[in-house]
Amino acid sequence: MATKSVIRNVNQHVGETVTIGAWINNKRSSGKIQFLQLRDGSGYIQGVVVKSEVSEQVWDDAKSLTQESSLYVTGVIREEPRSQSGYEMTVTGIEIIHLTENYPITPKEHGVDYLMDHRHLWLRTQKQRAIMVIRAEIIRAVQAYFDTNGFTLVDPPILTPTSAEGTTNLFHTKYFEEDAYLTQSGQLYMEAAAMALGKVYSFGPTFRAEKSKTRRHLIEFWMIEPEMAFTDHEESLQVQEQFISYVVQSVVKNCRQELEAIGRDISKLEAIQAPFPRITYDEAIEFLHTQGFDIPWGEDFGAPHETAIAEKYDKPVFITHYPAGIKAFYMKPDPNRPEVVLCADMIAPEGYGEIIGGSQRIDDPQLLEERFKEHELSMETYQWYMDLRKYGTVPHSGFGLGLERTVAWICGLDHVRETIPFPRTLYRLYP
Ligand code: 4AD
Ligand code: MG
Repeated sequence: MATKSVIRNVNQHVGETVTIGAWINNKRSSGKIQFLQLRDGSGYIQGVVVKSEVSEQVWDDAKSLTQESSLYVTGVIREEPRSQSGYEMTVTGIEIIHLTENYPITPKEHGVDYLMDHRHLWLRTQKQRAIMVIRAEIIRAVQAYFDTNGFTLVDPPILTPTSAEGTTNLFHTKYFEEDAYLTQSGQLYMEAAAMALGKVYSFGPTFRAEKSKTRRHLIEFWMIEPEMAFTDHEESLQVQEQFISYVVQSVVKNCRQELEAIGRDISKLEAIQAPFPRITYDEAIEFLHTQGFDIPWGEDFGAPHETAIAEKYDKPVFITHYPAGIKAFYMKPDPNRPEVVLCADMIAPEGYGEIIGGSQRIDDPQLLEERFKEHELSMETYQWYMDLRKYGTVPHSGFGLGLERTVAWICGLDHVRETIPFPRTLYRLYP
């Protein structure tokens, strides 16, 4: 075997002979030359097999290769400006690892259900690979942002005795003597962590037994939840717009190839720079009325409302000061107008809907106790959460970013199911 390389690094081996472990993405032939479209996960390169320059064995082996067969391919790396990757391999040797028969995903069109049933194989396609690379870059940028801005990563528990975001979509588990649920949000625990560490963030899986089957809902999704002590609502909004701008610009900078591979309009992403526009819930309601929506004050927005509001902007927009009645129990009322709370949803442009939900938290123990009663939450299970107000309470704020909705927006996908390797939706647990 020659020096082993991966396709991503062939630029370091121009003029050298290397061996690459690869799969056949596609193949074509023009009589005396065979063109192998090779992929290895790190990239794509064309291997050129010239009949007059290789042994009969190598020629016949190349001929026998089918889509998704695996092999070690050896050859000389050449610069090839006309190819997509800029390089090509002149093949000198082939060692077949496995000849694949009847690969289920062919270059023809398949339906989404069929592709979802074959998600474990669908991931190998160029578009799905690009999405996973962008997802990884988003996660990297999220962590880089918080790690370099004074936040400490903290991991809240996944099994919880309480609800954090209402009781309608709790994911029930039976194991403990008492009821236990898969976490809906790590927020309450992150508040405890903020009182210990100041500025914290979490990144982990979240579960909602959603009965709705929409293009924005998953049952299992990943959330980033920062929580900041001594921070008010306004300061939190500034962190949110800085953070999102940083993440989007990191993807633009580091994933240009992948964004192009999936046909994303990159200029739309380049425009995502802080500050972001803000409108209050009241203003949003007024605007919706001018657009023919018949929604009364006090009702929550649905996807069509969010889309209509977002269409006015080419950046994400904050909708602030929602009525207390449609938001979570822990949100702090506006001191000037207690029927609304100090909160904001960040709505992504281009119809992608809410990507962030955040708020200033109630820091007054008495008010929090009242809210528990109103929401019929048992004081007993939330005793520890009350303690945070009992012992050195401080103004604090935080927010939650849904990773998959963010990936859908940045990649320009019309459904969250393609943003996560193995999606869990209302009707899907397989593969
Ligand atoms: O708005 P949510 O419910 O807020 C919270 O959970 C807060 N406790 C966060 C916090 O303040 N620490 O959820 C936050 C985000 C949403 O904006 C959305 O992006 C995403 O999580 N999300 C979902 N993503 C996919 N599928 C679902 N079923 C989702 N539910 C929420
Ligand atoms: Mg929300």
